[in-house]
Amino acid sequence: MNQTFLTGFFTLLLFALSGCQDALEETLTLNSPQQTHRIDVYLDAGGRPGYRVLRKGNSVIDSSGLGFEFKNQPTLMNGMRWVESELFSEDETWEMPWGEQREVRNHYNGARIVLEEQEAPGRQLVLYFRAYEDGIAFRYEFPEQEGTDSLLITAEKTEFRLTGDHMTWWIPGDWDIYEHLYNTTRVSEIDALSKQDHPNLASTYIPENAVNTPVTMRSDEGLHLSFHEADLTDYAGMTLKVDPDNLTLTSALVGSDRLDYKVGRALPFHTPWRTVQIADSAGDLIESRLIENLNEPNKLGDVSWFTPMKYVGIWWEMHLGIATWDYGMTLDEQDRWVDTGKAHGKHGATTENTRRYIDFAAANNIKGVLVEGWNTGWERWIGFEDREGVFDFVTPYPDYNIEALAAYGREKGVEIIMHHETSAAPRTYEQQLDTAFALMKDLGIHSVKTGYVGKIIPKGEYHHGQWMVKHYRNVLETAAKYNVAINAHEPIKATGLRRTYPNAISREGLRGQEFNAWSVEGGNPPEHLPIVAFTRMLAGPIDFTPGIFDIGLKQKPGSQINTTLAQQLALYVVIYSPIQMACDLPENYEGQPAFEFIRDVGVDWEQSKVLSGEVGDFVAITREERGTGNWFVGAITDENPRDLEIDFSFLPEGVRFQANVYQDGPGAHYQKNPTDIEIQKTTIDRNSKINYRLAAGGGLAISLIPE
Ligand code: NOJ
Ligand code: CA
Repeated sequence: MNQTFLTGFFTLLLFALSGCQDALEETLTLNSPQQTHRIDVYLDAGGRPGYRVLRKGNSVIDSSGLGFEFKNQPTLMNGMRWVESELFSEDETWEMPWGEQREVRNHYNGARIVLEEQEAPGRQLVLYFRAYEDGIAFRYEFPEQEGTDSLLITAEKTEFRLTGDHMTWWIPGDWDIYEHLYNTTRVSEIDALSKQDHPNLASTYIPENAVNTPVTMRSDEGLHLSFHEADLTDYAGMTLKVDPDNLTLTSALVGSDRLDYKVGRALPFHTPWRTVQIADSAGDLIESRLIENLNEPNKLGDVSWFTPMKYVGIWWEMHLGIATWDYGMTLDEQDRWVDTGKAHGKHGATTENTRRYIDFAAANNIKGVLVEGWNTGWERWIGFEDREGVFDFVTPYPDYNIEALAAYGREKGVEIIMHHETSAAPRTYEQQLDTAFALMKDLGIHSVKTGYVGKIIPKGEYHHGQWMVKHYRNVLETAAKYNVAINAHEPIKATGLRRTYPNAISREGLRGQEFNAWSVEGGNPPEHLPIVAFTRMLAGPIDFTPGIFDIGLKQKPGSQINTTLAQQLALYVVIYSPIQMACDLPENYEGQPAFEFIRDVGVDWEQSKVLSGEVGDFVAITREERGTGNWFVGAITDENPRDLEIDFSFLPEGVRFQANVYQDGPGAHYQKNPTDIEIQKTTIDRNSKINYRLAAGGGLAISLIPE
């Protein structure tokens, strides 16, 4: 149901200032529909294209240059002339098949500017700008040109000149992984190189002082900015190189050691959008749908074969070390499994264990069961160079009856979630995609968690370079043909493609819950998720895998999760994903009254609202479930306890709600007493205003069911 209404045109301010040396040659001014943002696009005196951004009359991005360097062509940066430009507007409303909200308004004023080199070879470059109320975006287009059929880009020179030394929440511009902790420093203090060679990362490469996106900032005046990209298609991922002296970020594309360029493309093509989300309040960044709006409409049509769901799985037991992915026996020369005296009997993905999870799911309003370690190959899957052919994605271990389990799940109304760990050998995976997805189709399985642990083979490629961007897209498009949805771990960043390919359901691409089981720093600190909500989450859905109840990790003496139990519940509302894991062992949920919240909470939303929040400190979000009229509230805080007033005026008029409130108990503290929780049943309506106390590392979760 994608309706497009072209609602009219704009004003174009195009003027030439001549006779003055330093003056801008040409300027175009583009205002957002309600005039919140203004973009000036210009050619400077040297003919270099540039832009600047104002919000409510104040400079937000100072005059910043644009341009490219190539391997097979001279630089395209200066000496350009303005050929023509046009302004246009769009106001459309589109529907998310699943999402944080049903309807999304895409309302902007746009500009198209054609530039051309003044001297031979007279190449053209087209710029597209969009001014929204919630930010700005632009992209480059390389049109067909005489005498050139392809471009090899060695550097994109897109600048973002900041207007102050903003407070910044950043992870390093790692070419191979996003699983770093966030750092909070001023722009001038960013030191990405100090994050090199983290011992817990199976692949990591940080070549320069750059940050990854989304990177979020707050100015001293309280303005919030987040830099990212949208529609990353057949191009390299963008990091942002930091010039700490001049407070300037410059695009730095992820490369490949096999090639001496970053992006190779045939003409014509356009780059991803470069985006800046801009908001007075931190919460407005979360409500912004700018990234999705910059992507093309749904290409897959009806994807109702995928249903948003909660899931459990054979997973946490491996991260805790009480079960294994591998079978524990060895294949002999005749391909028979033999016990060479080392059988450990700890294989997690057995038929019996999977049935136990299916039964648990069926009894608890949970629709999916993820099974990792079901296929052969895990005996030797990581830590050595030649990993081609390790996994085949169709051969189960002898103790896993894949057909019987799919059928048993169906009988119980529960679907198995497939797992394809590639051990970062994407060529092996690509050769088998059709076979692997055909098996899933036969079994009635509609979603798969993929994984890319380790250094990419072929050697010299990186997870975030153009070669892998194309791989991830190939997987998405091939999967769609088999009605399969993808939840990628070790993915390329989310750039809003879920609008175009709604089978891109979720992804990791951050430091997830798993780090709490084994990271050297003793797990994610309490500020981690109050930062993630305003950084990584702006890119798209996150498979964080919340729901640990055994916060003290009895199987791992000395480690624990750095949140209270109430915060684990709150994460089902705070972190958005159309698939949400209840990741603890089923036995840790048995007899726990707090588990009722996980049973009740929705996963697909009619609308979402951020009630309050500050980056890195706390956030409170409410979401209305699609189809039921149920509302849920989730709030989390960092290591500081705080009082939070929830004003329930978001609820509809004339309806009273049965509320189940799960809040930190009086003695709760993420380190000292994480499982102290108070559960209260009460009634709430839109006139209610209630103060809640969040403990250090704590949270609040409320389910609101209409009476
Ligand atoms: C890393 C993933 O993030 C994790 O969820 C998975 O269990 C392992 N790889 C094995 O594939
Ligand atoms: Ca991971």
